[in-house]
Amino acid sequence: MKTRTERAADEAPPRRVLVIGASASLGPDVVEGFCALGDHVLATTRSGALAGACGGVRVESLDLLDAASQDRLAERVLPSFGALDVAVFLAGILPGKALAAYDDALMQQVMSSNFTAQAALLRRLLPHFKPGAQVWMLSSISGDRGSFDPIYAASKAALIAFVKSLATWLAPALRVNALAPALIEGSAMFEAMAPARRSHHLASTPTGRLSTPAELAAVIVNLCEPTWSNLNGQVIRINGGAHV
Ligand SMILES: NC(=O)c1ccc[n+]([C@@H]2O[C@H](COP(=O)([O-])OP(=O)(O)OC[C@H]3O[C@@H](n4cnc5c(N)ncnc54)[C@H](OP(=O)(O)O)[C@@H]3O)[C@@H](O)[C@H]2O)c1
Repeated sequence: MKTRTERAADEAPPRRVLVIGASASLGPDVVEGFCALGDHVLATTRSGALAGACGGVRVESLDLLDAASQDRLAERVLPSFGALDVAVFLAGILPGKALAAYDDALMQQVMSSNFTAQAALLRRLLPHFKPGAQVWMLSSISGDRGSFDPIYAASKAALIAFVKSLATWLAPALRVNALAPALIEGSAMFEAMAPARRSHHLASTPTGRLSTPAELAAVIVNLCEPTWSNLNGQVIRINGGAHV
């Protein structure tokens, strides 16, 4: 594929792309996908390292649950990276517990990691977007149809309402959309799941297969292309028809 730089540089100049949670299962492919288009990528992980990151990717540490870490990214790192065209939020945690197995601290951790801390980070990022920039957040099929883990599902549903709200009130300065996949084959969440639960997910998917990290990463990168520039406030559900 021709890089964005190889296409007319003035027609499609490199974008500045922030990927939060770049160590997630689809993170390396998302980073690689933007790199392949010639974009400049700033990737964050909690450790500040990302194995196999392509050349030109800048990797910084970010712990969503640490306000000082969020401040550092917004106030010290971003000004030297440049104004953002795209931000992709991939981070998320799934304890996979029923309500009775949750304690208050874990409940707060899940809501914060998956929603509140991401909202707080996006608030900090607002002054750093170019006009017409876009944000992608990772919801889940659970946010629509519920889940065995009700707190995870609630955190993902909160993201959907958040995206719809911002899309209505921030556009055209900023477009905000969400991707809502079903269980991702080979992801940490998939590996941690009991085999019977995995089989249940597969059996309830009309296409008869789960999406892979590479496939979903390619969808995100593609949806950030100018062809989709009127997409705003949408939840792109990729679940093989498991929930329609
Ligand atoms: N896997 C699935 O089946 C599935 C299905 C539907 C939706 N999703 C959603 O898709 C996204 C990616 O899922 P995944 O399975 O690929 O994730 P994953 O491999 O489990 O990775 C989780 C990511 O979240 C980051 N993270 C967790 N807590 C963080 C914190 N406090 N601060 C900063 N980063 C934090 C991790 O960073 P470090 O590695 O740096 O700690 C890691 O990059 C998640 O939002 C998930 O909820 C996943």
